[in-house]
Amino acid sequence: MSSILNTYARKKISFRKGKGCYLYANDGKKYLDFVQGIAVNSLGHCHSHLIKIINKQSKKLWHVSNAFTILEQEKLAQRLCKHTFADVVAFQNSGTEATELAIKLARKYFYSQGKKNKNKVVTFQGAFHGRTLAALFAANNPKHIEGFGPKVNGFDQVPFADHESLKKAVTDDTAAIMVEPIFGEGGVKVVPDYCIKGIRELCDEKDVLLILDEVQCGVGRTGKFFAFEHTGVIPDIVPIAKGIGSGFPIGACLMTKKVASCMTPGSHGSTFGGNPLAMSVGNAVLDIIFKKGFLKNVQKISKYFHKELHKLQSEYPKVVKEVRGAGLLVGLKIFKDQTEFIKKLSDNKLLTVKASENVVRLLPPLTVKKQSINEAVTILKKVCKTYR
Ligand SMILES: Cc1ncc(COP(=O)(O)O)c(C=O)c1O
Repeated sequence: MSSILNTYARKKISFRKGKGCYLYANDGKKYLDFVQGIAVNSLGHCHSHLIKIINKQSKKLWHVSNAFTILEQEKLAQRLCKHTFADVVAFQNSGTEATELAIKLARKYFYSQGKKNKNKVVTFQGAFHGRTLAALFAANNPKHIEGFGPKVNGFDQVPFADHESLKKAVTDDTAAIMVEPIFGEGGVKVVPDYCIKGIRELCDEKDVLLILDEVQCGVGRTGKFFAFEHTGVIPDIVPIAKGIGSGFPIGACLMTKKVASCMTPGSHGSTFGGNPLAMSVGNAVLDIIFKKGFLKNVQKISKYFHKELHKLQSEYPKVVKEVRGAGLLVGLKIFKDQTEFIKKLSDNKLLTVKASENVVRLLPPLTVKKQSINEAVTILKKVCKTYR
């Protein structure tokens, strides 16, 4: 029996090393990794630049308290602000802490204006915002909240893509609308641009903040730094995590100065959030992602991947129902049993991960090459063929 708490249906495979798109298992097998820690290793496994920087920093300084000025943190915050809508950043350690802070900010923002009842957050069915109590009850997934009551109050939920219900749900007590531009865990569903624009308009009309959860879809995954940049909309608060650390635990909440003005020393904190070691990795990730042409290349390779997957769908219309997603956040909605399909892919040395609505998620690193995409498509074809 394992000494680890039983909260994951773990596969038996374990790995000894990783390089780029590939993972090497302890039993000698080599896998093409299109999970990448669930969209975490944005630059693939053991990227040489990250190795160099983390080695260098590990010999200088790992951790000091946020009671002191942390220059690596200042630098990462400035770079994030320079390249995005944000004026201010708060560093955390994970996605759920970042979404939790987003909720806190929305509440505190209106509280500081004397609007003490304006504290509710409207969310969407099928969303995922993490596993802290507030994030759980924000998403309100019956499977995730069972047994974890009492309920955290302050959330109103509406169906996906139902603007009329959304309009009704937004009242004078609403502080924010929180949505993932692409529902990752929820089935790789892209929220259409006009919906994001409509939500922004509604927020402006009702004096409500817009929180766009980019924990999974952000940091270059869609070929722009943020997925919402495809829509032209400017949010108020954006939680991020995963890709910004490319495997090192970093979370962050980006916000406008208007929002940031409600917080004062002592109103939030995190012991580990933004320590020098983590920040040096975050900066190293941005060195690569902000390199000229990097995101253009993500767009180019994703276009190729989507084209190949659409071909696969037309070749196997009884297996693949739909190709979903944007950039390198891709989902195949299949007609067959998802668990069996993923097992067959894994038996053929392609690692993928499930999402809701019987979707198989494909999350290559942003550095993926055409050759690895072709390799993945060949394995997908081979597995689709077994259903003939
Ligand atoms: C959209 C979204 N928000 C929040 C989270 C929570 O992030 P973490 O697991 O780092 O706490 C996730 C994780 O999958 C996510 O996809």
